[in-house]
Amino acid sequence: MPNRQLTIEVPKMSGPGSEKRNFVWNQSLIVDSDPGEKVLSTRLFGYESVIGILRFAFANGLSRDVAWDISNIDPYLHKPLLAAAKVYKRGVRVLGVDDVSTASTYEIQFFDDLMSTFAFSSSRDLVIVDRRVSDFWWNQIPNGLNVVDFDEERKDLTAVTDIMDIVRRQGKSPKNIVVVGGGVAGDVVGFASGLLGLPCRFVPTTLLSMVDSSIGGKVGVNFEQWGKNQVGLFNPPSNVNLCTRWLDTLPLTEIKSGMVEALKHAALAGDHMLWNSLIAISRSVRWQDIRGLIPSVLEIKANVVARDPFEAGERAVLNFGHTLGHAVETMLNRRRLRVSHGACVALGMFHALRVSSEIYGFDAGQYTKDLIEANLIPDRDILNLIAGISDDEFSMLLVSDKKNLFGSNYVGLVLLSDWGHPARSEDGGWLVKIPMDLALKQIRESFLLLV
Ligand SMILES: NC(=O)c1ccc[n+]([C@@H]2O[C@H](COP(=O)([O-])OP(=O)(O)OC[C@H]3O[C@@H](n4cnc5c(N)ncnc54)[C@H](O)[C@@H]3O)[C@@H](O)[C@H]2O)c1
Ligand SMILES: [Zn+2]
Repeated sequence: MPNRQLTIEVPKMSGPGSEKRNFVWNQSLIVDSDPGEKVLSTRLFGYESVIGILRFAFANGLSRDVAWDISNIDPYLHKPLLAAAKVYKRGVRVLGVDDVSTASTYEIQFFDDLMSTFAFSSSRDLVIVDRRVSDFWWNQIPNGLNVVDFDEERKDLTAVTDIMDIVRRQGKSPKNIVVVGGGVAGDVVGFASGLLGLPCRFVPTTLLSMVDSSIGGKVGVNFEQWGKNQVGLFNPPSNVNLCTRWLDTLPLTEIKSGMVEALKHAALAGDHMLWNSLIAISRSVRWQDIRGLIPSVLEIKANVVARDPFEAGERAVLNFGHTLGHAVETMLNRRRLRVSHGACVALGMFHALRVSSEIYGFDAGQYTKDLIEANLIPDRDILNLIAGISDDEFSMLLVSDKKNLFGSNYVGLVLLSDWGHPARSEDGGWLVKIPMDLALKQIRESFLLLV
């Protein structure tokens, strides 16, 4: 039996859209794609033109707040357009179409031992396990599971079809799909199960997936040059079975990466005790102690998600530290350097705290000092390399972040007007428009302090 559980409510997606404009589709925009792509598109979505439609929408920079007007389109193309709209940036509104989502709930159940996380699976469930997890835990997990290689580099639509193929090969439709792995496995399998209309249980095995990606219902994959997690769904799991024993085999860099997301949640909630405990664990490298804090950390994310389940507003605060974090991650990836997502976000949080201080006069000194002492920021060699990039490259990277809507002279950042108080912009939004000069000045000053 679980020793504790948390219920997450998922309301029906409804009400008028917050879309600021419409995009009128016409037939000539729907171009034929190559044969391989048509096959992939049909296997995933049931129509050969969906990926071509997605590509067109990305190439034309359609954002999530643009509704699609398909009234000029021949009815035979309505279905592929609707299929594309459903997954484009996790769903855009199509004019004249009512949303069919329903309200639901799911439980996050905490277990002390690994085997009981599987006890609820029936023989009609299809269990998919990340290969590394299976390599470490083969003698602890049931036989006959489907072992799959998951990798951020291959977190794409083809990986989603691979999962759909495994399900289809079973013949009989499974009762549930159960995914045992980290955030990559959860995002890919959760997306595949959403496309197949099957319930999906998560068994998260990384710290990041326990405190972050398993909660909130966002699933999806990277799409070509248009970036991370751009195609997907809001598809909440039917249940999350959480057991911290998996963390016994998780490499330290991955533990630290999840730790940064946990600190982000503590900062957003203004939870001093949690922040201090997480910093103390990192400073003393007593990683085991994070286990007891996981429920408090994920509850913070659950509360943000409950207030804004479909990311219409406040949920953007979960990107605290991620604008600079993603910019640095992209820049390092381009140079083929592997630095964890969390380390990049730690640097981004350090920067966002300093900008918050400058703009709102909030005294962030102790928090930036804590981040340095927690040893979560990339090491000196990497920092020197990042510090070496030009202001021009930095500003290009900052404005290309998918959340940036402010043109090339400004950057949108999640800031804190005070500890635990995400700042609001003049129009009530959660991204504050900062002049690029100021953002760059703070980046330079941050490096002077850090190296
Ligand atoms: N859906 C969301 O809301 C959301 C939120 C945050 C992040 N994400 C996504 O999550 C992904 C990152 O997740 P992650 O950090 O869990 O990465 P991951 O799934 O790649 O796992 C990290 C590494 O640890 C291995 N691993 C997993 N469990 C292990 C265990 N118990 N012991 C040993 N090795 C283990 C994996 O094979 C992998 O090599 C990104 O793709 C990100 O976009 C999604
Ligand atoms: Zn993150």
